[in-house]
Amino acid sequence: MEDLVLLEKIGNIAILKINRPEAFNALSKKIVDLMDDILETLKKDEETRVLIVTGDKHFAAGADIADMVERTPEEAKAFLFTKTFEKLENIEMPTIAAICGYALGGGLELALACDLRIASDEAQVGLPEINLGIMPGAGGTVRLPKLIGEAKAKELIYLGERLSASEAYEYGIINKIVSKENLLEEAIKLAEKLAKKAPTALRSAKKAINFSDGKSKADAFNKESEIWAELFSTHDQKEGMSAFLEKRKPQYKGE
Ligand code: CAA
Repeated sequence: MEDLVLLEKIGNIAILKINRPEAFNALSKKIVDLMDDILETLKKDEETRVLIVTGDKHFAAGADIADMVERTPEEAKAFLFTKTFEKLENIEMPTIAAICGYALGGGLELALACDLRIASDEAQVGLPEINLGIMPGAGGTVRLPKLIGEAKAKELIYLGERLSASEAYEYGIINKIVSKENLLEEAIKLAEKLAKKAPTALRSAKKAINFSDGKSKADAFNKESEIWAELFSTHDQKEGMSAFLEKRKPQYKGE
């Protein structure tokens, strides 16, 4: 059962892989609970600087329909992935969704909870819940309009149609398209670039951006100033600036 979700570490990079190929990585409650446990572990893991979320062949074809069909409203609420996806959204390191095959429904919602999305050229994304008589319930009605604007998000949610990788790129859902063969390699390259930056600064930038969501400009500016100033108590700020002045490469410690 444990291998429904795999965790691999390459240096400072963690790769979380959903592993239920026979069901196109449909997300059962068990899978999401395992992901939650991994996120809890990663939160305490000081060595890991970047997290990649991915799947073999398919990213995830959505929440497990068989696991939902007979649920009552209370049971449906208990099934939802919102808390785990929020944990992923706020984990204190950059996260990358590496999308191959289908990222549908809860699968796309999982990718939307990541900071960046890189997809293979054959990937297809969408929120097809409407075709099952429901709507997205794991952040899709909240994160997608914010990312691509309400009009395009409503079109995707109301019609439930799939987008190709290039359409998703044009919509602004995907940051970069690569070939299927190179997907993980490209995601790791991006993660390696991020792992070389100051972890403290990345953490702070993510915190400020996530905080600003739904806040007044005044509140967001205040928080930004506060977080920015706090960075001046870190080794990484002294190191980054000294390295610039001394014309050398910085050695960040994440503290
Ligand atoms: N839940 C459960 N099983 C799923 C699944 C899902 N979301 N998606 C695929 N599967 C299973 C299929 O039942 C099938 O299993 P069997 O071989 O045992 O029958 C297997 O994966 C392969 O699927 P198909 O035979 O359908 O393969 P296909 O190539 O013809 O189509 C597909 C692939 C387009 C992904 C199609 O399976 C599909 O449309 N899946 C459902 C997508 C969907 O509606 N996702 C949203 C779910 S609701 C949700 O996510 C709610 C939320 O907001 C949290």
